[in-house]
Amino acid sequence: MMKWFGAARFIESGPAAGETARDADASQPAVVFENVGKTYAAGAHAALAGVGLQVARGEVFGIIGRSGAGKSTLLRLVNGLEKPTSGSVRVNGVDVGALDERALVALRRRIGMVFQHFNLLSAKTVHDNIALPLKIAGVPKAAIEARVNTLLELVGLSERRDAWPARLSGGQKQRVGIARALVHEPDILLCDEATSALDPETTRAILALLRDINRRLGVTIVLITHEMEVIRDVCDTVAVIERGEVVEQGPVWRVFGDPQHEATRALLHTPGHELPDDLAARIHDSPRAGAHALFDVRFTGEAAQEPDLATLAQTFGSQGVRFVHGGIERIQGRAQGRLIVSAPARNAAEAATLAERARGHASRVEVLGYV
Ligand SMILES: Nc1ncnc2c1ncn2[C@@H]1O[C@H](COP(=O)(O)OP(=O)(O)OP(=O)(O)O)[C@@H](O)[C@H]1O
Ligand SMILES: [Mg+2]
Repeated sequence: MMKWFGAARFIESGPAAGETARDADASQPAVVFENVGKTYAAGAHAALAGVGLQVARGEVFGIIGRSGAGKSTLLRLVNGLEKPTSGSVRVNGVDVGALDERALVALRRRIGMVFQHFNLLSAKTVHDNIALPLKIAGVPKAAIEARVNTLLELVGLSERRDAWPARLSGGQKQRVGIARALVHEPDILLCDEATSALDPETTRAILALLRDINRRLGVTIVLITHEMEVIRDVCDTVAVIERGEVVEQGPVWRVFGDPQHEATRALLHTPGHELPDDLAARIHDSPRAGAHALFDVRFTGEAAQEPDLATLAQTFGSQGVRFVHGGIERIQGRAQGRLIVSAPARNAAEAATLAERARGHASRVEVLGYV
């Protein structure tokens, strides 16, 4: 499928798993979790329970969740570092739990892994860190040189080929980590908090590199992060894990634009999703003389519509309509957010009528109360 380096592939003529992966049907998912449970021998409770998810080939799939939720466990099940206690994990159609050691080694060459703390060997140069996995795999020296040079170029580190890891910045170390993860031309790249140790600017550069690798080389990426901007900027799909269970998953624009689960809302703590305290304190349940009704107008990106302020204002009445709080942002090209609007309404029936009219111009409209 992928032809990255033009040159011949160096993957050993190998066992079934590797071959199956290589010949994988482009339309089948890269990774499928089916009702997966995982309980560690030392663990009192299940680290994962009933997990079902699909990672489509060629996408960037993000995993978020609180500390201890089971994210790393999930990732380690993909490359067979852990075995599921129940259910199945299939990579390129192959049941990872059923593979023997030899087949697992072949599988892991199809799956690159990038770590938070880079895991570079300090006594080896940049070049040697990247070359090592190829050496271990018995790749001929000339071929190793060609591959390492191509990778150094890909990650923008050709100049630092002979540097020692200690002399590199965090971002450069992670570039080496990424190059090393790509030595065997994997079709899946797993990243466990790959940017958590980096400053915001370096994070953006590393994300751009990962996105580039995804787009140009067609590598499927599964990444864990605590940084919500990372998901927003590079992921296509996101899954939210809470106490070992997937509580929400879907396209990033939908999950971020209209989070359904409390855990997702807590992780995002989007200001627009909370009503400001002063406003909340002023809300009454029933209309009083001269009161304004407060409307919660949501745009979830579902209809790919952009808020038409003039029309919206008209639907609420031409006089005294106020935009009180909220905002709109764009995720994956879809406008979404929440506008809190106040408008004169003499009674609940009138407020309900206004809300109903506004529904034609937004994803959801609710009457929050009266101020
Ligand atoms: N090797 C292990 N042996 C026993 N229990 C483990 C092991 N690894 C993880 N656990 C437990 O499994 C649960 C999930 O851990 P995991 O590392 O997958 O969480 P996580 O979401 O990656 O957390 P973090 O965000 O802190 O990295 C936790 O309760 C953890 O203590
Ligand atoms: Mg973890």
